[in-house]
Amino acid sequence: MLQSDKLLEVQNLRVTYRFEDKKIRAVDDVSFSIREGDRFAIVGESGSGKSTLGLSIVRLCPGEASGSVRLNGIDILKLSQEELRKLRGSDISVVFQDPSSALNPVLRIGDQLIEVFTTHGYDKTEAYTRSAKLLETVGIPEPEKRLMSYPHQLSGGMKQRVIIAMAIALNPKLVIADEPTSALDVTIQAQILKLIKELSETKKLSMILITHDIGVAAEVCNEIGIMYAGRMLEIGTFEDVFHNPKHPYTQSLMTCVPKGLKCVLKPLPGNVPDMSNLPSGCKFHPRCPYANDKCKTIEPKLEKADGRYVACHAVW
Ligand SMILES: Nc1ncnc2c1ncn2[C@@H]1O[C@H](COP(=O)(O)OP(=O)(O)OP(=O)(O)O)[C@@H](O)[C@H]1O
Ligand code: SF4
Ligand SMILES: [Mg+2]
Repeated sequence: MLQSDKLLEVQNLRVTYRFEDKKIRAVDDVSFSIREGDRFAIVGESGSGKSTLGLSIVRLCPGEASGSVRLNGIDILKLSQEELRKLRGSDISVVFQDPSSALNPVLRIGDQLIEVFTTHGYDKTEAYTRSAKLLETVGIPEPEKRLMSYPHQLSGGMKQRVIIAMAIALNPKLVIADEPTSALDVTIQAQILKLIKELSETKKLSMILITHDIGVAAEVCNEIGIMYAGRMLEIGTFEDVFHNPKHPYTQSLMTCVPKGLKCVLKPLPGNVPDMSNLPSGCKFHPRCPYANDKCKTIEPKLEKADGRYVACHAVW
C-alpha cells in the first residue's frame, strides 16, 4: 500500500493527549496512503479519533504525534514552524465543520480572502481579481458585491462556499475536510458536497473527508478508512467496503440508518470504548458477536485481505 507514487503516506501515526494523570492515545499505529485525485473518507463513531487524525496530518492537533506523515516524500512531522506555515494553504488546507467560527466576523469576506493571497506573495490588485474569480468558481453569484459583505450577511451554505474558496485559493494538493456539511441543512449539504466533488475532479485535488455519515462519504469518496478506538479497522475502495464489508465492525456500520434524508451510522449495541481505559486484544471485542479467546488477548494487525486491508483475526 505504501508506495512512493502516493501523494500522502501516513505511517505508524500515534497521537497522545495527556491531561491530569490520564493518557489518551486517540490515534494508534495508523497507516494509510492517498494517491493524487483520491477522495478518502474517514468514517467512525464519535470519539474514534477522526478529527485527531485529520488535524495531526497538518499539525493542528495539540496531542503529541509520532510516526511519519509524508506529503510527496516530505515528512510534515519534521518540518520547522516556518516550513509548516508555508505548507498550510499552499499544499494542504483544512475545512472545518462550522463555517461561522472559521470566518472572522468583523472582517469583510473580501479582506479575508485577499489576505490568503497577499500573505503568499500576491500584490493587492492580483489578489482582488483572484478572490472574485474564486467566489465565482465556488458558485457565489455577484462575486464583487459579495467580497464587500460581512460573514453575518451570508447564509450558512454561502459561508461554507467562502471557506472552501479560501481552502482551494492557493491550489493545494490536499484538502482535509472535517464534517464540512454537518452544520448545514440537507439541501444545502447536497449542494456543497456536489461542489466539493466537482472541485476535486476539475482541480485534481486530493481530499480527506471526515464524516460519521456514510451517505456523505458515498456522495464524494472513492476510498474509505473505518476508524475505531483510534485504529483503522478496514481500508479499501468505497465500492468494496460499502458493498462487501469484511470487518465485523464495518459490517454492522454499513447497515446505515436513514435519518430524514441522511444516512447515519447504525447505533451499535454496547458502548464506544473509554479511550483512557481500552480493552485488551482487539479493541472491538466487547461488542463483537464473533469474539473468541484470541481476540481478547491479541490485537489483530491491519493486513491485506480480498483487495483491501482488514484488522481482524477472522477474515470474513
Ligand atoms: N484536546 C484534547 N485533549 C484530550 N483529549 C482529547 C482532545 N481532543 C480529543 N480528545 C479525545 O480523543 C479521542 C478522539 O477524539 P476526536 O475528537 O479525534 O474523535 P472524533 O472521531 O473526531 O469524534 P467526533 O465524531 O465526535 O468529532 C476522544 O476520546 C476525545 O475525548
Ligand atoms: S478480531 Fe475478533 S473481536 Fe475483533 S473484530 Fe475480529 S472477530 Fe471480532
Ligand atoms: Mg471530530
